Amino acid sequence: MNCIEEVNGTASRIAPREGSIADVIAGRAEWAITSGDAVDFLELLPPGCVDAVWCDPPYCSGGFLETAKRRARGMLQAATIKRLGWFVNDNMGTTGLVWFLRAVAMRAARALRPSGHFGCFTDHRMIDALKPALESSGLRYANLLIWDKLTPGLGKGFRAQHEVVLHFVNRSPEYHASDEGNIHGVRRVPPKKKNHQTPKPPELIARHLRVVAPPGGLVVDPFVGGGGIGVAALRVGARFIGCDVDLGICEDARGALRAEAAALAAPARRERST
Ligand SMILES: C[S@@+](CC[C@H](N)C(=O)[O-])C[C@H]1O[C@@H](n2cnc3c(N)ncnc32)[C@H](O)[C@@H]1O
Repeated sequence: MNCIEEVNGTASRIAPREGSIADVIAGRAEWAITSGDAVDFLELLPPGCVDAVWCDPPYCSGGFLETAKRRARGMLQAATIKRLGWFVNDNMGTTGLVWFLRAVAMRAARALRPSGHFGCFTDHRMIDALKPALESSGLRYANLLIWDKLTPGLGKGFRAQHEVVLHFVNRSPEYHASDEGNIHGVRRVPPKKKNHQTPKPPELIARHLRVVAPPGGLVVDPFVGGGGIGVAALRVGARFIGCDVDLGICEDARGALRAEAAALAAPARRERST
């Protein structure tokens, strides 16, 4: 990745460049975000070019019972949800989600290098359904990563304080760091934008990506949301391609990555002006 330059004898980063998907794949730019359906988007990637597909799809776990989820469908019509901008597809039944994410994993497996990794955020209620569905893509289940949010969520009894990442590997996985455990205590970030009710902290994702992607490697997130995974990818020096079905959300994510790119380049600019 040509993001490091020598300034006054000191290696400093220059701003990761925004480009097209083709530019990022060819190494002419460091990041791109496009709009579209996750399955269609992954289908278009050339085979064997991605180091890690790391994603945070809708969890669809709002109700334990399918009837509760069907009730949730009506929520899309509710004024509160319209006002808050509840993101699309979070009201799918479990079977729908299983079929959908299996299709995502199949295409991710095709796009991954043989050494590549696939990570999928979910919560404890969906593990039993999703793990075998994702495994049926041909990827091999490797680990369960725990995000400890350090404070319990809403509810009664044992209030959930964690979310998980189902981690799968392709044929001959390569690891790029070995100093991380599988439990990461990182405080959750409050949503800033109305579109993103479930932002993932880049500090958390950076701890995942430094293990599964080499510097200059390619990270792909087909559910980009507010861009947490993309911001983390730039932070660890990887290239990044993201996609979201919602045009407005894509624009928000681009804003987050532009801000991160500028922040990463700031020390280099300061060096130059002295
Ligand atoms: C849980 S959010 C991602 C949040 C993100 N990780 C962040 O840090 O802000 C899931 C995203 O998936 C998008 N989405 C839902 N269905 C999709 C589909 N079929 N294809 C692509 N994106 C989709 C939603 O618009 C939403 O932004």
